[in-house]
Amino acid sequence: SSTDKGGHRHYMSKEIAEQPTTLANALKYYTENREGQHLLEHGVDFTAFDRIVMVACGTASLACFVSKYWFEQIARIPVEIDVASEFRYREPPLNSRTLALFVSQSGETADTLAALRYCKGKAGMILSIVNATESSIARESDLALPILAGPEIGVASTKAFTSQLAVLAALTLQAARQCGTVTAARAQELSDQLRAVPGLVADALTIAPQIHRVAQQLARFDDVLFLGRGAFYPMALEGALKLKEISYIHAEGYASGELKHGPIALIDEDMPVVVLVPHDAMFDKTISNMQEVMARGGKIIMISDARGLSEGGDGVWQRIEMPAAAGPFAPIVYAVPIQQLAYWTAVEKGTDVDQPRNLAKSVTVE
Ligand code: G6P
Repeated sequence: SSTDKGGHRHYMSKEIAEQPTTLANALKYYTENREGQHLLEHGVDFTAFDRIVMVACGTASLACFVSKYWFEQIARIPVEIDVASEFRYREPPLNSRTLALFVSQSGETADTLAALRYCKGKAGMILSIVNATESSIARESDLALPILAGPEIGVASTKAFTSQLAVLAALTLQAARQCGTVTAARAQELSDQLRAVPGLVADALTIAPQIHRVAQQLARFDDVLFLGRGAFYPMALEGALKLKEISYIHAEGYASGELKHGPIALIDEDMPVVVLVPHDAMFDKTISNMQEVMARGGKIIMISDARGLSEGGDGVWQRIEMPAAAGPFAPIVYAVPIQQLAYWTAVEKGTDVDQPRNLAKSVTVE
């Protein structure tokens, strides 16, 4: 059942392994199921809004951050993102042409709920993306879209994160169609790329032994830096968040291009740098940041596809080879190695993976 570990040592590893199925469920629901299609097609009219304000906490807020790149590049809708604890008190101006979107696995996070209540009567629509459909956030929204991930027990969110991304991607495509920002051929290409994600996630799961090996090395360090560019920047933030949450190793995520504005001062052989860099249009830019790290004796863990790794140059300390994932939805596939890296590092250190110290699954108090 969904509440036993199904032969896994931890719920987290079971939930990581479930992602090809949970992602396929969500994508099938929103593309092939009448009810799901109806929710997307008639539930939200993106032409009615000038901007989207996305609010969430923790990993859910990083799903929002990734999707900001999608909504802005593909649907050309300006997106503002914030964490709920800041949003709720900073008195942000809203109007009827603002879509307020809340993302929450539990649907009960106190700050997110308070932010939602702030938007009532101010924003044009309150939309939420939730796993728990019988939750306060779902109930108080004009429309709640389910992510259909099933119960998530591990405190550090994994399958809920990727399903939040899948639903946000499906919404982006819907917005692009409604707003006429892509041609029919491009819409088809994007939708094919999104449908390929569950299979690519299954492929990414098969590289666990490579990641296990890297994690055995990583567990010896006290500090780790994650770098990424574009939508891989919030993925770098998520990689750092996951690692610190469950392995208690201090980790920071940074936009690759910001390296020279601070973290480069910390580079030495004692702080490995995880670089998320598929062979895409931004590849050369990120590689030059990576070389800046190597030139200063930094140890690089490069996560890329075969082509990227072959062009990555000598001197890379550890390589993790991902399937080639084309298109803007590749970050969903890269969630897998960052989850596994955190997971195996935590196992190596012997921490309580499913119940990390001081953290709660659902934070229902401010
Ligand atoms: C806690 C959990 C995180 C989760 C965050 C937001 O911090 O440990 O895994 O991302 O809350 O929770 P929500 O239920 O609103 O998605």
